[in-house]
Parts: sequence; structure tokens; C-alpha cells
Amino acid sequence: MNPQKIRNGPNFLQQVNKKKHVDCALSSNSQSSDDEVDEIVAIKKDVQKQRFSVSAEAYGQFNKKENFKAKYIPKSKEQSERIKQRMQEGFMFSALNDKEIEIVVGAMEEKIFHKAEYIIKQGEEGNVLYVVDSGELDCFKNYGKGDIFLKTYYPGESFGELALLFQSPRAASIKVKSDKAILWQLDRETFNLIVKEASIKKRQQFETFLENWDLLKEIKDPYDKLKMSDALFDKQFKKGDIILQSGSKSNEIFIIESGRVSVLKNNQKIFELCKLGEYFGDQSIVTNQIETFTYVAEEDIKLMYIPKKSYSSTLKEIQSTLMNNIQIKYGKYL
Ligand code: CMP
Repeated sequence: MNPQKIRNGPNFLQQVNKKKHVDCALSSNSQSSDDEVDEIVAIKKDVQKQRFSVSAEAYGQFNKKENFKAKYIPKSKEQSERIKQRMQEGFMFSALNDKEIEIVVGAMEEKIFHKAEYIIKQGEEGNVLYVVDSGELDCFKNYGKGDIFLKTYYPGESFGELALLFQSPRAASIKVKSDKAILWQLDRETFNLIVKEASIKKRQQFETFLENWDLLKEIKDPYDKLKMSDALFDKQFKKGDIILQSGSKSNEIFIIESGRVSVLKNNQKIFELCKLGEYFGDQSIVTNQIETFTYVAEEDIKLMYIPKKSYSSTLKEIQSTLMNNIQIKYGKYL
């Protein structure tokens, strides 16, 4: 374990909050207190400098796993299936094995909310995480001058994990947008002992890459990058493996971690991808057309990938950049 990581890690949101007050104070004295958006951008830039790491306490939790007696809330088979389905749609639970999924499903509790009801209020203590079963919810954050809308949550997405991951106050507020919302609620203990471990491992695994991946430099909110690690996986291929065939639609956006990938058109190699962060499979996912090229492992390689189903919650925000990049990367060969 990198000790620096542990030192930087705990309570990053509290650090964020402290920073926020300093920035807000400065800006209210400033003559150019014209524009809230500028302030938010400044705060976000500062926040970006913080590292998303994990606390030493989190690791202490793992030792308790052996004696853990999971909460169990009886539910119908149909309800259990629905929860599993929702868990598969999002990516918070993507690293769990079958046994762990069963434990989490057993511990989930159904909660029904109505329009305009607050599920979470920024600054309050939080002990549960939510998975959206039906309905829509809006997320707002107050940076010091009133609530700013951040995003809408849809079925399959989850929220409220930060307070559990970092033992911090709720970092944003979430309220029901639709007439009604059905949510599945997961308690802190089950989250800590079953979900957190996998989530932390994944976040650590991809943290440095995501912080430095050029493609994401337009994504200003560090929270969005943090979430992206949940949607990233890795996979190895052997020399000669066809990773993606022309004429097909890709199920993943592949990203080079190490090794070389040949790009073929009509069985002719036209170029190679080999730099960390170069990606492919985007053509069919971003434009919904078929792939023009075939991609073959030139040697034993390691790739990362983002599944197609996670595209809208991870990279859609930068869709126009992705479109431009497709033109730049492939335009001359199309
Ligand atoms: P938590 O802090 O526990 O409660 C509020 C939730 O809002 C938070 O977890 C995240 O799940 C969610 N959220 C969405 N966007 C953001 C954001 N930009 N910053 C912080 N939290 C966010």
C-alpha cells in the first residue's frame, strides 16, 4: 500500500468543503462576483487537484468480513430478479461475484418516494446507498450560492455511495422528479463489507489512468471521473486475436493499456494503435454505425474497456469530442 495514498485519501470531501468556503469567501469580496458559473469552474478546478483515494479505515473493515452476518429482508422472487436486473444495468456492483450479488439482493429494502420529496440532503449524515428501480430523480449541489442542478438519475443508476465510501457528509442533494420513485436501499454495513472492497479496488486500479487520460480533460467534475472507474474493466488478448471485426457493432470501447493493435481494412494493415489511452470500438458506439476496420492483437496485449451500456453515463457528455476524434482518426481511411 502506498502510504502517500492513505495520507491523501481520507475525507477528501471535507477537504473539498473547506476549500469551497475559502473560495466562496474570496469571491464574495471580489469585485467581479458577477458570475456563479465562473466560481463553480474555479472550485471544480481546485477540487480536481484532490486525489480520490481511500482511507485506511476502509481496509480495516475487510477483516470483519469473516464474521459478517448480512441483513436479510424477505422479498418475492420477482423483486429479487428486478433488483439483480437493476444492479446489472448500473456499474456500482459490476465487480461482485454471484454469492456477493445474492447477499446484496437479500439486504436491499424497497423504499417508495413521491414527487419533490428529498431522498438525500447535502451536508447530512448518510448511512445508505440507493439504486433506482423506477422513476427519475434530480441531483443538486450547493457550492455556496444556492442549488445547482447536476444530473438526473434513471432506473439502474445508484447514488449515495460517497458518504459510505469516505465517511463524509452527503455531498449533494437528491429529490424525486417524477410523480413517484421506487428505490432499493442498501445499508452501510453490507455496502462496506461487500461492495466497498470491490469498488475501492477498481477505483485504485484505474485512478491514475483516469486522472491523466487526455480524452477526459473536458470532464471538469472529478466526481464524474471517479465514477468512471466503476465502468472500466480490463482484458488480455493473445497475439493474433481478432478483437473487433469490421462490419460488426462493438459492445465495448477498448482502450490500450499495453501492447500493439493492428487496424486492418480489407485485410490490409493501415495503422497501429499502441499508446496508452488510444481507443477503438467508438465508431459503432458513438455513431451507431458498423465498424469500418478490423482490430487484431499484434502481440499479447492488455486492454481496458468500457461496456456499451455504460456509454451514456460515462462518455456521452463528451460525445461531440468523440465524434470529432472519429473524423480525425479515421476520416482519411473511410
Ligand atoms: P453522497 O455524498 O453519499 O450523497 C449525495 C450523492 O450525490 C453522492 O453520494 C453521489 O452519489 C451523488 N452525486 C452526483 N453527482 C455528484 C457530484 N458532482 N458531487 C458529489 N456527489 C454527487
